[in-house]
Amino acid sequence: MSNSSTGEDRSHDVPLIDIHNVAIYRGDTHVFDGLSLRIGQHEPAIILGPNGSGKTTLLKVITRELYPVHANDAFVRILGRETWNVWELRSHIGVVSHDLQTRYRPDASGLDVVVSGYLSSIGVHGTLAKRITAAQADRARAIMAELGVESMANTELRRMSTGQQRRCLLARALVHDPDTLILDEPTAGLDITASFEYLSRIRSLAAAGRNIVLVTHLLNEIPPDIDRVILLRAGKIVADGPKSAVLTEENLRLAYDTDVRIAKVDGYYFAYPPDGGHEITE
Ligand SMILES: Nc1ncnc2c1ncn2[C@@H]1O[C@H](COP(=O)(O)OP(=O)(O)O)[C@@H](O)[C@H]1O
Ligand SMILES: [Mg+2]
Repeated sequence: MSNSSTGEDRSHDVPLIDIHNVAIYRGDTHVFDGLSLRIGQHEPAIILGPNGSGKTTLLKVITRELYPVHANDAFVRILGRETWNVWELRSHIGVVSHDLQTRYRPDASGLDVVVSGYLSSIGVHGTLAKRITAAQADRARAIMAELGVESMANTELRRMSTGQQRRCLLARALVHDPDTLILDEPTAGLDITASFEYLSRIRSLAAAGRNIVLVTHLLNEIPPDIDRVILLRAGKIVADGPKSAVLTEENLRLAYDTDVRIAKVDGYYFAYPPDGGHEITE
């Protein structure tokens, strides 16, 4: 674990993410062109932007699922290195994405989902299951207990609420005790109770010293304790900095192509329409 609460000088730390001048394609779509971004190892950050702006693509670049087009001065360095094997990277960066959830078989048990994190695989079948040690299974159960889903160990995914499924995936990412957690729209599809609960668990993990990079398109989900916001629009960073500078009506209008008013309450930001709501004409 990182010791982010000691306040020591970390200016010598290599960045978590150091991306320089990269171009990324997904199929024929040119998602990023000349993207540069640096995020420190102990620097919680929000990646905010409308649907299709490239948030998930950026995460896949960070987790080495997508590679940039080769160019002389382009690089993607994660913790100072350009090459990683996925296994090794998992113990530094845990990823929770909706994408992942939809790839599990509906009859996978909660414990299957969590222990599959040790194998960086989807589900645990046949010979793979034999590679899980008793100690690993114990740790998986302990993490499930921490997240309040220990009773879901033998429950099939399809019999869980979306919130319980999501917590099993979070537990999966935590089996390696990664210093950084990257969460891609973690509350998508959750009701208010489940969203609040999930966000409060994320805040506790952050308070315990884990770095959090949170991808969202909802302003009100930005935890008050995370200050840096990277605002994307159509594959470009339109603003990057402290919330007070980035979350302005002008920047949001630019990013979302919509007139937006912003309110700030108790450290949270909210977006609402300028006139109380137009009639929807689409
Ligand atoms: N598998 C894919 N093949 C082709 N284009 C894709 C694929 N996935 C995403 N895209 C395109 O890449 C762009 C960025 O998508 P994405 O990173 O998923 O955005 P976000 O996560 O911000 O909603 C969009 O234009 C999207 O249509
Ligand atoms: Mg996405």
